[in-house]
Amino acid sequence: MNAEARWDSFDPVAYVRKNYRTVLPVDAEIMAIVRAHFSDHFRRLPGLRVRGIDVGAGANLYPSFMMLPWCDEITLLDRARPNLHYLQQQLGTHDHGWDAFWRELCPDDAYATLPGGPWERLREVARVEQGDLRALVDRPEQWQLGTMFFVAESLSTAAEEFHEGVGCFLRSLEPGAPFAAAFMEHSEGCWVGETFFPACDVSEFDIRGSIEQFAEHLVIYRVGEPGEVRPGYTCMILACGFRRAGSSRTRG
Ligand SMILES: C[S@@+](CC[C@H](N)C(=O)[O-])C[C@H]1O[C@@H](n2cnc3c(N)ncnc32)[C@H](O)[C@@H]1O
Repeated sequence: MNAEARWDSFDPVAYVRKNYRTVLPVDAEIMAIVRAHFSDHFRRLPGLRVRGIDVGAGANLYPSFMMLPWCDEITLLDRARPNLHYLQQQLGTHDHGWDAFWRELCPDDAYATLPGGPWERLREVARVEQGDLRALVDRPEQWQLGTMFFVAESLSTAAEEFHEGVGCFLRSLEPGAPFAAAFMEHSEGCWVGETFFPACDVSEFDIRGSIEQFAEHLVIYRVGEPGEVRPGYTCMILACGFRRAGSSRTRG
């Protein structure tokens, strides 16, 4: 169960070193797809600025970077204290490794011409917040743009928690909100520093089945090469779409 994992032993520095030391081809592929998804949508709504959320932000800044040009507020939600500390620290003295991720987004002018660049903008709009994603649906507010990267399958080994995680993320978004969510297919869990974090073994079919009731114009991509990031998963899955209007936000 999610509550049993040792989230407060999560080592963000080890996690970044292992996963985001450089921009892997799969990261570049994901960023190109999501950049186009968000940019195509917001280009039709000039001047609109919305509230975005990165659910289970952990020690990964590129989902927030992808939302930056379109947001006047971005909630970075996570339950693990060390990750919240890492995120807060990045808003001060950031790790220059992330600049290479930002450059991947800059072929699109909305990113390249962002006034002040990514760090000034991130400091203005980011709100680092401790919380459980499963409580999002009990809050009065909803978000108009959302990302959730490698979180739902990492909550625990339980399939019910995977589906609940996906549902809570999507139900926290307003109807019509664009979203991007990434998953490790058939993950066997992973070591972060000295701590093992289990995962739920999900297939592309499971992922699609979990998302489609809450989404419209859903496109699922299989990205990267098997084992590109680490052994113990088959493929990365990226899901892009829009929150479906009319599907319930309440539980059950
Ligand atoms: C595998 S990491 C993914 C981190 C990051 N999104 C990325 O793309 O690398 C899973 C993240 O989910 C967070 N998490 C686990 N359970 C959570 C919960 N119930 N609510 C919110 N965040 C949670 C963990 O603290 C961790 O940061």
